[in-house]
Amino acid sequence: MPATFTKSKELFARAQNSIAGGINSGIRKMEQPVPIYFAKGSGPRIWDVDGNETIDYQLGQGALLYGHAPAGLADAIGAQAKLGIHWAAQCQLEIEVAERIQSMIPSVDLVRFNNSATESVMAAFRLARATTGRPKIFRFEGHYHGWGDEGLVGFANPPATWTEDDELPRTHPSKGIIPEVTEHFVLSKWNDAAHLQRTVDKYRGQLAAIIFEPALCNTCCIEPVEGFMARIRELCDRDGIMMIADETITGFRFGASCAQGFYGFKPDLTILGKAIGGGTPFAAIGGTKAAMAKIISGESIHAGTLNANPLCLAASKWCLDEIINRGDTHPAGTIALGQRLMSGLSELARKHDLPMRPQGPGLAFHTVMLKPGAAEGPVMNYRDYVTRHDAPRWAHLRLMLLEEGVRAIERGLWSISTTHTDRDIDDTLARAAVAFARHAAEWKPAV
Ligand SMILES: Cc1ncc(COP(=O)(O)O)c(C=O)c1O
Repeated sequence: MPATFTKSKELFARAQNSIAGGINSGIRKMEQPVPIYFAKGSGPRIWDVDGNETIDYQLGQGALLYGHAPAGLADAIGAQAKLGIHWAAQCQLEIEVAERIQSMIPSVDLVRFNNSATESVMAAFRLARATTGRPKIFRFEGHYHGWGDEGLVGFANPPATWTEDDELPRTHPSKGIIPEVTEHFVLSKWNDAAHLQRTVDKYRGQLAAIIFEPALCNTCCIEPVEGFMARIRELCDRDGIMMIADETITGFRFGASCAQGFYGFKPDLTILGKAIGGGTPFAAIGGTKAAMAKIISGESIHAGTLNANPLCLAASKWCLDEIINRGDTHPAGTIALGQRLMSGLSELARKHDLPMRPQGPGLAFHTVMLKPGAAEGPVMNYRDYVTRHDAPRWAHLRLMLLEEGVRAIERGLWSISTTHTDRDIDDTLARAAVAFARHAAEWKPAV
């Protein structure tokens, strides 16, 4: 029997009276048939208040690389809580965590901690402007860099704003922003080396930084084409621009040295979030000594009451040790499991004649659903995705999957944790078989 979500619906209705909109992060409203209320999790599985047991690939928006409620992590947080929850001062743990990051990521000499990656991105933009004395940040359509005014410029330029103009629009999805913020951004197309080159040339002398998700995971799951990272590095070196890798999703998921190790490049600054804290509110900005100089001098202000909070530090130390202790088996293990899942889902899609094309390196991937008549082949960037991906059809299949006990991120991203096993993949594919059959029978495109 497909799962039902009666109690979640009741709680969501009740929440309307005390929580604005009933949820605490805008994106959570997207979940259909209702934002779900969870009761407990263990490893790759999660249970909601209706008692439904779900195999989880949403994983706390990717933060739970080590699965739900790992005993070691809970113990580490519990032990620290008995010693002290918050000091707004120094403790040895912060050095131990910083030293681990330094040993894992070759480009990182120094770090500063925050509670969210949104804050670390803000710090990076400020630092890049302070270091270069230039105003503008170069970024790519479809890449998400937090919910601050600066993080969202051009993130989702609506198709109605697309023109043949080489200068891409700088729309902002939120009302209430500082109006001038959009003027300080320059947009480009992911994986389009020619557009990258032309745009950097055009804004020569004005660019403080180029920021990107090394594997774009907030729009589809789009790896950089061969040579693209090297091209960004070359242009940054040529013009004294700071290269910022936003590894909020990819950090530690793609291995101890993150996506920069996986793809082989060296940024000036790195943003870390999600897996660095295993689900605790923890993030960091890291960089070379030279790149961090204005933070060291205090000219670029970086602060926060809860920065380097001992509970988060204890959690992070445990998480980083998990990665270090896995050695070469990570990310190979999650890649292998993810690729098995991708091919199983592709097989089901073929069986039911669904135009679904999983895309990504396995440890994370996106289930692209092609629109009727859309061209085959990998999705290359934001516009390509919006043009070819059938979002309503994917949303219907996702609902069927959820009702059968498989949970992917609403937009179609799947992440594998270090606690998923072959048995979980088998179980997922058995549940997906039912969901795909239901979707094939029930899906009707809107006319
Ligand atoms: C690439 C990227 N950067 C920044 C952020 C913002 O992180 P946070 O939600 O911790 O502020 C996110 C969040 O999903 C992200 O995916």
